[in-house]
Amino acid sequence: MTASSVLTPERNRPALNSIADCIGHTPLVQLSRLFPGRDIYAKLELMNPGGSMKDRPARHIIEKGLADGILNQDTHLIESTSGNLGIALAMVSRLYGLRFTAVVDPKITKTNLNIIRQYGANVDMVSVPDAAGGYLQTRINRVQELIQTVPGAYWINQYANELNWQAHYHGAGTEIADSLDQLDYLFAPVSTTGSILGISRRLREKFPLLQVIAVDAVGSVIFGAKPGPRELPGIGASRVPEIFSPAELQQVVHVDDLASVAGCNTLLEQEGIFAGGSSGSVIAALQQLLPELPESARIAVILPDRGDRYLDTVYDADWVKTLRRS
Ligand SMILES: Cc1ncc(COP(=O)(O)O)c(C=O)c1O
Repeated sequence: MTASSVLTPERNRPALNSIADCIGHTPLVQLSRLFPGRDIYAKLELMNPGGSMKDRPARHIIEKGLADGILNQDTHLIESTSGNLGIALAMVSRLYGLRFTAVVDPKITKTNLNIIRQYGANVDMVSVPDAAGGYLQTRINRVQELIQTVPGAYWINQYANELNWQAHYHGAGTEIADSLDQLDYLFAPVSTTGSILGISRRLREKFPLLQVIAVDAVGSVIFGAKPGPRELPGIGASRVPEIFSPAELQQVVHVDDLASVAGCNTLLEQEGIFAGGSSGSVIAALQQLLPELPESARIAVILPDRGDRYLDTVYDADWVKTLRRS
């Protein structure tokens, strides 16, 4: 890193008004131990107060909805979520006194489920897998039932909601653009694709030649691959999101669960960064592509959530033994 090429971060922020004001302004950290001699930065979205980058769309959607009068104190928010958006919506709903029901599936970790409940949200658990072998469609069907029957119901619909990508455009996208004066590659994991699209749309305004690499799970159907078993929550999807825009992404790397676990362990051992499963997927994808990328390339990676939620999975040797090599 040269002093001129990374702009000075802001310091001495004034006292904040609420936990919502603590969302964002996450650190950008050079991964110089894991990738010596390379110019690689990690955006630590795991340092958001709810523990993940999903705090950003939760806050943006709720605050904009309240400001526009679409949401009010009689609103009951409903969303299908594999965990992180559920936690984020539960936190921001609690702050603004809104009711919230998270529609979840059995793949949610026990810890995430407990966190959502601690914030005071309702949990509605589906149990029957969909045709693709996941639970996404079953969860969406359950949401459709709830929006017909729950008074004041409002479906966040993260897979189709334009505010999803816009939250990341104004959030991590703007923050990375403000921190760097050069950027060649962005690596980010995908599920709704809101974060990769929002961040890259903002970054391309400053770095028009930016190459955007999506990191998806083996077994996810987002990029047209066949559905298959996958165990890590957060990354991948069993249906194609409405907001998906493949022409904006230059390449996709599919990473299996075991490689993601290895990526998490490497990140922890080399950098002391304790991150969730999809962060490990990003590190594995980067390790795979790095030999093909120019030595001088500057790369940013997104690390979406914290590792403590994965103590019973990614960081549990018995759980890891149950994973299949793809
Ligand atoms: C841990 C984790 N990684 C990656 C993603 C993918 O983000 P997006 O839905 O913005 O594509 C999510 C989304 O829930 C997530 O929770």
